Amino acid sequence: MSKYETINQESIAKLMEIFYEKIRIDENLGPIFNKAVGVSNEEWKKHKKKIGNFWTGMLLGEGDYNGQPLKKHMDLPPFKIELFDNWLSLFEESLKSIYNDEMSNVILQRANMIAKNFKKALYPNI
Ligand code: HEM
Repeated sequence: MSKYETINQESIAKLMEIFYEKIRIDENLGPIFNKAVGVSNEEWKKHKKKIGNFWTGMLLGEGDYNGQPLKKHMDLPPFKIELFDNWLSLFEESLKSIYNDEMSNVILQRANMIAKNFKKALYPNI
């Protein structure tokens, strides 16, 4: 398969499919997400669409996401800070499987920044 060289709605939708199918079955992250999102394909479809909108907003200035991501994560049952590394590594693996290196790095950098901010807010004493 040739890799995406541009960030657009289509490639972001594909990224959501690949990433969240990994998340759903991940030993550590899966249970956290399945509890909050649900276990049905219908619920996951909605989740992927929402997060796809988050990313198109972030990267393209398009889409209708207007949630409060930090608050959502603060309201989750507590989980270990190390899981951010698992999240980022599955995200990177997903990016690299569909985007060329340049685009993967652009998106990964944004994810890293957001993860850093979330961690600072979620674990103020670390
Ligand atoms: C270990 C790390 C993470 C865990 C365990 C986690 C878990 C979750 C879960 C369970 C939800 C669903 C909440 C719900 O629907 O009630 C969620 C939503 C979301 N996550 Fe994460 N997340 C993590 C990291 C990140 C990162 C790094 C980003 C961004 C780069 C991100 C972006 C989002 C967004 C945008 C939502 C949607 C919030 C909304 O409903 O408006 N998450 N996350």
